[in-house]
Amino acid sequence: MTTKGTVLITGAAGGIGSVLVEAYLQAGWRVAATDLEDRCAGLEQKIMRHGQAFEYTIIPADLQQPAEIERLFDRLDKHGWLVNTLINNAGFGITKKLTDLTVAEWDSVLNVNLRAAFLCAKETAARLRKTGSSGAIVNISSTRAIMSEPNTEAYAASKGGISALTHALAASLGPDGIRVNSISPGWIEIGNYEALREADHNQHPAGRVGRPDDIARACLYLTDPGNDFVTGTDLIIDGGMTRKMIYEP
Ligand SMILES: NC(=O)c1ccc[n+]([C@@H]2O[C@H](COP(=O)([O-])OP(=O)(O)OC[C@H]3O[C@@H](n4cnc5c(N)ncnc54)[C@H](O)[C@@H]3O)[C@@H](O)[C@H]2O)c1
Repeated sequence: MTTKGTVLITGAAGGIGSVLVEAYLQAGWRVAATDLEDRCAGLEQKIMRHGQAFEYTIIPADLQQPAEIERLFDRLDKHGWLVNTLINNAGFGITKKLTDLTVAEWDSVLNVNLRAAFLCAKETAARLRKTGSSGAIVNISSTRAIMSEPNTEAYAASKGGISALTHALAASLGPDGIRVNSISPGWIEIGNYEALREADHNQHPAGRVGRPDDIARACLYLTDPGNDFVTGTDLIIDGGMTRKMIYEP
């Protein structure tokens, strides 16, 4: 099978990640998917339901652990797969009062959302440099990089970090032909979209809550080799919510 390239997607079993996996497979990419071990079986079933002979591999890894990230890339090397496109999508948040949030909790959020993105980018870039190949990286940030609800310090800091990491990587890796961009999703519903209220949709200037495929289409755009003038940018996909001026009535 001919492929457009090999994409590594982290957090691949999640609401957005699993739709990314399906979108890239359907667009003719070879997909390496990774998530926590107990989430991988569900992803495999989801892919199998398409009944198509896609080219993919699912490699479990806990991205909190730098050694597991090294092992993930070692396994891809053993497969003979060179990742030329990386989507750093894994992430989670802890909503907890500032005065109750522990150092371990802070570290767990920062280590998955930010440190793992750095380490995966480092491993990817090292291999692309060694082989003289070009590539693309997309970091999934959040509109919470620039706005917050209370009690979300670790998540907000991690997403602010991802946005800054993106332009730093774009500057460092530009000479190697590796483009680095981020996407800042707003509310992307990963549960029951039908259960959303009219008010949920109507508060968005775009008239609806977001869906994972809104993010998948943006990733496909940013990782398309034809769009090689786009690097170091952040694409906000939030139905206009961060452009909406809000005064209490
Ligand atoms: N859904 C939204 O409204 C929204 C908005 C803004 C940003 N985002 C971002 O989009 C990305 C995907 O989120 P989602 O909404 O699909 O949530 P999700 O919880 O469905 O997916 C996140 C995935 O990351 C994985 N993950 C968490 N910790 C991990 C670890 N230690 N090792 C490996 N994998 C780990 C989870 O298992 C999960 O599959 C996240 O980075 C999130 O911050 C989501």
